[in-house]
Amino acid sequence: MTMLAPSILSADFANLQRDVELVLNAGADWLHVDVMDGHFVPNISIGVPVVKSLRKATDAFLDVHLMISQPEKYLDAFRAAGADLLNIHFEAEGDKAALLKHIRELGAKSAVTIKPMTQPEEIFDLLPLCDMVLVMSVEPGFGGQSFMPDSLPKLRALTKEIRRRRLPCLLEIDGGINEETAPLAAAAGADILVAGSAVFSAPDVPAAVSLLKSV
Ligand code: DX5
Ligand code: ZN
Repeated sequence: MTMLAPSILSADFANLQRDVELVLNAGADWLHVDVMDGHFVPNISIGVPVVKSLRKATDAFLDVHLMISQPEKYLDAFRAAGADLLNIHFEAEGDKAALLKHIRELGAKSAVTIKPMTQPEEIFDLLPLCDMVLVMSVEPGFGGQSFMPDSLPKLRALTKEIRRRRLPCLLEIDGGINEETAPLAAAAGADILVAGSAVFSAPDVPAAVSLLKSV
């Protein structure tokens, strides 16, 4: 069954505990935490203190998506704050293989993310070091954008490669996931669906969680 990771980027940060409890009680599997540094992406969101506060508020699995230029400077701090999974961008600075190994040494799950212009073949060498791969289906930086269908063949290529090499690597998709696009992503091999606006901007948030979980 496909898992759902609501992106708290679209939650009400002044009522974060309330919003997080709402989605978890409705059956959300993970919480997706979008960290933006205003440099790797043209937006600033949240950082280590919010992860630390979330860790105190919930036992839920924290999937931390680092849209930052220099992940090596912050991996230890995010892990210490309580991140369960640390997700670095392939396009960020640093030696990705070394960073993924370091994430595992910290005791966290490791993941690499590819932006829309990056092809899946570029990360094939890294797959044994990844517990998860995230395919972006929008340009990272903002919630509420439209799903890019080009992400579907990328999911299929990664599914094929992961199966061929029998790797225990999960696939996640992030950006523009809603009730129309979720079934397409799931059929293309996504194990985890990230959804921000389709969850937190829905008139009935628990119903939106149920709907997206049922794909
Ligand atoms: C975009 C973020 C996404 C975003 C998804 O840079 O990585 O996680 O919050 O938002 P929606 O689901 O609204 O596209
Ligand atoms: Zn994200």
